[in-house]
Amino acid sequence: MDTRLIAASPAEVETECLVVFALDHSVKEPANRSLSSKGLGSNSNIKDKPEPHLTVKDAAIEKAIADLVASGEVTGKAFETVLLHRPQGLKAKRLMVVGAGKAKSFTHAEVRKAAGSAIRALKPKMIKSCAFIVPDLATGAEDAVRTMVEGALVADFDPDTYRSDRKDLSVKEITVVAPSGSDQGKLQDALTQGRVIGESQNFTRELVNEPSNRLTPTMLADRAKEMCDTVGLKCELMGPDKIKELKMGAFWSVAQGSDEEPRLIVMRYEPEGAPEKPVLGLIGKGITFDTGGISIKPADGMEKMKYDMAGGAAMIGAMRAIALLKPQVKVIGIVCASENMPSGKAQKPGDVQIAMSGKSIEIINTDAEGRLVLADGLFYARTLGCTHLIDAATLTGACVVALGYANAGVFANDEDAYQHFTTALKRSGEKFWRLPLDQEYLDQIRSNIADLMNTGGRWGGASTAAVFLKEFVDDTPWLHLDIAGTAWMEDNKSWIAKGPSGIGVRSLIEFVRSFEIGK
Ligand code: BES
Ligand code: MN
Ligand code: ZN
Repeated sequence: MDTRLIAASPAEVETECLVVFALDHSVKEPANRSLSSKGLGSNSNIKDKPEPHLTVKDAAIEKAIADLVASGEVTGKAFETVLLHRPQGLKAKRLMVVGAGKAKSFTHAEVRKAAGSAIRALKPKMIKSCAFIVPDLATGAEDAVRTMVEGALVADFDPDTYRSDRKDLSVKEITVVAPSGSDQGKLQDALTQGRVIGESQNFTRELVNEPSNRLTPTMLADRAKEMCDTVGLKCELMGPDKIKELKMGAFWSVAQGSDEEPRLIVMRYEPEGAPEKPVLGLIGKGITFDTGGISIKPADGMEKMKYDMAGGAAMIGAMRAIALLKPQVKVIGIVCASENMPSGKAQKPGDVQIAMSGKSIEIINTDAEGRLVLADGLFYARTLGCTHLIDAATLTGACVVALGYANAGVFANDEDAYQHFTTALKRSGEKFWRLPLDQEYLDQIRSNIADLMNTGGRWGGASTAAVFLKEFVDDTPWLHLDIAGTAWMEDNKSWIAKGPSGIGVRSLIEFVRSFEIGK
């Protein structure tokens, strides 16, 4: 998708479709006033009257949609799309009014979704280009432009890669229409940022979408390397010999059961002139397929376990964006890529493994493999000099039980690092909810035979997994993102296709940028 910025009056823009957002200013009237505290007996059947207000003041557009508004067809309700052909007084061929919800809750999160809803409404109509009018947003036009482009790109993605009847419905070009007199340099920069971020999120989604026969650990590593070569990152790929030489006993214990070789992927972003510290370590779980191993999963739904590399893919996407956005901060991305398979070579419950850190682990359930590969990934990041760690993993079903599909889980052992993450969330619009990491959970994973067990029983499963990881980071400031419930969307939304969501990518990018001096 090409993106361009112009400064123009909306009426003058020649385009297949001009897109404008409308907010819902309607006030809810009580259904029966006689029950209200004021005790007014009359007017008992007042209905909510639609009251859409455009997010930009523009007389020509208001005039063009006057009849639509009068008919009640445009309400401004969240993500409603209404299309008008040959709008009078405008040069555009069509005008689309997209609802952006209640005025008081209008933030960049709604801008993303509204822009996305427009794209997804236009795609099946084979409309190949459109122009978005920059809305007035409390946090400013740059924020609006960046998030509009992010939302449009994310919405353009469909996961139908292998359908033989696949049609290219993608929108080829979007134009962002800024008010004349706005700072074009700054807005162009915001547009580029949005583009890099949206494309990187889609790159992650492409990887997550691939089935395990088309994305083995080796192929995932090759895709990461190819990306690194393109954007100018250093990339090192390590196989079984190196993993064993590094004494990554926890990582290897998962990999040993598969005929597919594991890969340790290390991507480095070390910009000239960046301060020595911090060095941020981004560590991702890259299980390209999780059968559960000897503690095998039930057949029902097992096909979904191709997305068990979503944390790793998020790191690869984030590193791409970081390489292109060039923040002045050092970042190392690490992905532990492996399959988790049952076989004659696979580890068994009761086995004891020695992690790279020297800690011993009793394997209770071979399906708790993510924490094993991450234990070594996190420890390895520290040996490379990382001063701050953040990992992302589709780690536990328990996190899905706790938070459902609406929020991903975040755990933190350091308040300052957590503050950086909440700052990042304010810009990314992704939803994470903090879960506890108390010492008590550690009691659940103490083993009789070894230092730790890899599972902690039925209760508090997201937290017992997190405290397991914590044992390998020691005092290094660290965040753990459990994205098991959010990395795959179960339903289509008006702004994003069902399938891989790319959760984490935007927050990771913003997290890194929050460490730039003066930001
Ligand atoms: N990859 C799964 C977690 C998962 C579950 C991801 C659902 C996405 C959706 C992980 O490796 C796993 O199997 N976890 C087990 C741990 C248990 C054996 C302690 C789980 O959550 O059931
Ligand atoms: Mn598992
Ligand atoms: Zn897994």
